[in-house]
Amino acid sequence: MSFPQTRLRRLRKNPILRNMISETAISANDLIMPLFVCPGRNINNPISSMPGNSQLSIDLILEECTKILAVGVKSVLLFGIPESKDEHGHVACGHNGIVQKAIRAIKEQFGNELLLVADVCNCEYTTHGHCGTIVDGDVDNDLTLVTLASQALSLAKAGADIIAPSDMMDGRVKKIRETLDENGYSTTPIMAYSAKYASGFYGPFREAADSAPKFGDRRSYQMNPANSDEAMREIALDIEEGADIVMVKPAMSYLDIIYRAKNTFNIPVAAYSVSGEFSMIKAAGANDWIDQERIMMEVALSIKRAGADIIITYFAKEIAEVLNRK
Ligand code: PBG
Repeated sequence: MSFPQTRLRRLRKNPILRNMISETAISANDLIMPLFVCPGRNINNPISSMPGNSQLSIDLILEECTKILAVGVKSVLLFGIPESKDEHGHVACGHNGIVQKAIRAIKEQFGNELLLVADVCNCEYTTHGHCGTIVDGDVDNDLTLVTLASQALSLAKAGADIIAPSDMMDGRVKKIRETLDENGYSTTPIMAYSAKYASGFYGPFREAADSAPKFGDRRSYQMNPANSDEAMREIALDIEEGADIVMVKPAMSYLDIIYRAKNTFNIPVAAYSVSGEFSMIKAAGANDWIDQERIMMEVALSIKRAGADIIITYFAKEIAEVLNRK
């Protein structure tokens, strides 16, 4: 049947009806808020390119977690800004690493009320800003697996609920899984940044985490934005190696990858709506060129509609506030 018998506008007549037939919804349960933890006390260094986000010392991270929980967001993703850096990122592997300390403090205060995801990567911890050990001007894959596994184990020991490797080395999920299992952490899930693209959208993050590469770029390990089949291979391999959740990153320009991942694999899919996506919306909103709140909700909805089960976003708290108002 078609027009005039069929009129799709019949079901758009009022908000109750529209809500009743809504196919997608965002819940605060789906959201993860990234946080940047730095040394010191009472330190709040605003990140100029990411309005509302700051590098926070552990005492202020605890206050921020209280606010995040109060609006109904139940998970945070931790990034560390260390006191010092080294060639290989060893500084990220110790009991007294900045993220390890933050995890212990958060767990002490919030226990299992707050789910702690720990990013595993070397770029915040190396002097050169690359995600692993450099040999002959490029990141050496297999040497880097050693530091990644050691960092992951140390974060698990500190109390991380989920380990999230973001480095894009081949074989890192397998290596981390084996290391966790051998050391009594067989129940700690791995959320793998499986399809992580070499993207210009990470620009503001590199200010936030002080992790810009000092030479070259990350194209020899992160994916070419032109590729989609390759993303499916990356995800398939990570699942085979033991990933419990796979991730697509960035999100907004990669909705086709999210959609394809969800339709190809029976596994929870996370999407990381990255710093550049956040900053563009904030900047346009601040200029009144767009309605920031409306666009924020529309983008999050589109990421879910594409197939993501989990959204990592710097808007997590603001989205939850909007959901609470409705
Ligand atoms: C670490 C890492 C990055 C992001 C998350 N983990 C930066 C990068 O790969 O350059 C980016 C997150 C964002 O832009 O919000 N490797």
